[in-house]
Amino acid sequence: MKKSILVAGATGNLGIRICRELIKRRAEVSAIVRPSADPVKVEALTKMDVKVIRVDMNNIDEIAKACKGINTVVSALAGLADVIVDLQKKVVDAAIQAGVPRFIPSDFCTDYNDLVPGENRNFDLRREFKAYLDSTSIKASSVFNGAFADILKYNIPILNLKDRSIGYWGEKADWKLDFTTMDDTAGFAAEVALDDDAPRDLQIASFQISPNMILAEVNKASDQAFEIHQLSSMEDFAASIKKQRADNPAGENELYAKFQQGQYMYSMFTSQNNELANKRYKGLSWTSGSEYIQSFVK
Ligand SMILES: NC(=O)c1ccc[n+]([C@@H]2O[C@H](COP(=O)([O-])OP(=O)(O)OC[C@H]3O[C@@H](n4cnc5c(N)ncnc54)[C@H](OP(=O)(O)O)[C@@H]3O)[C@@H](O)[C@H]2O)c1
Repeated sequence: MKKSILVAGATGNLGIRICRELIKRRAEVSAIVRPSADPVKVEALTKMDVKVIRVDMNNIDEIAKACKGINTVVSALAGLADVIVDLQKKVVDAAIQAGVPRFIPSDFCTDYNDLVPGENRNFDLRREFKAYLDSTSIKASSVFNGAFADILKYNIPILNLKDRSIGYWGEKADWKLDFTTMDDTAGFAAEVALDDDAPRDLQIASFQISPNMILAEVNKASDQAFEIHQLSSMEDFAASIKKQRADNPAGENELYAKFQQGQYMYSMFTSQNNELANKRYKGLSWTSGSEYIQSFVK
């Protein structure tokens, strides 16, 4: 029998990809969206054969009604505490009310389980929701994909295309960083949604690549040489992020505040996905670092 999956956050970058991957796998897919959802995105979902249900996200009964008969609820919601903690709690409560057996929270990040609480604001929110989720009866699975590979295109200190530089912190020029493309993450998340035996935590990476390996790839792709340099010690990096956060109170209300970007890169240099579940499902192909970097570095 076809499985029925409900996606929250389906109008988002990752959410729509997860819907597409679920449809490819012949699942019945529905999406709860807020009444203000962009009609263009709603139409794109409808065209893919996703059943779009507009709900008042503050109304647990309305969400529960949409959850009736669903096997797994997948959350690809993005936001701060009002979304990652408060709204996801409402969605999980509604799923439980409707008898849904499984839930995938909107983690899709570095595996924060072994990281120090307080070091990364957005991970603290996920940790808070995880504590709630794990106290309920629903079976949860989280996907930890490191960073979306797209960030390599955004002139971050790790790879700055304008300065033609690669930066690293501490003595970590050979430290492997976990990157996964959004499409690879979505394909894997769809498999997890359909897999009743999926474990609690799954680490994945399209590619694991160190700053020195990035240097080799970009210099292969481009005629103009890139250079690599140490940015600072890890201790100085941590201190500068703390200062940046203290100096910018408004950033507390921004999802991707500058200090949060620093916290994310800090986590990438302190945590690694060592037990990859990439091979758990047959038929998935993973983008290589070389392929990805060659696709945009000139
Ligand atoms: N690992 C990484 O490097 C990385 C990078 C980026 C994102 N992520 C994570 O990936 C997940 C998905 O992110 P994304 O980039 O796909 O996000 P996105 O494009 O911003 O989409 C967010 C989704 O959440 C919905 N949403 C937000 N606030 C809502 C609210 N108050 N009520 C109802 N719906 C709400 C949006 O609905 P509307 O369309 O109605 O606004 C949209 O569907 C998140 O967990 C995010 O943190 C990870």
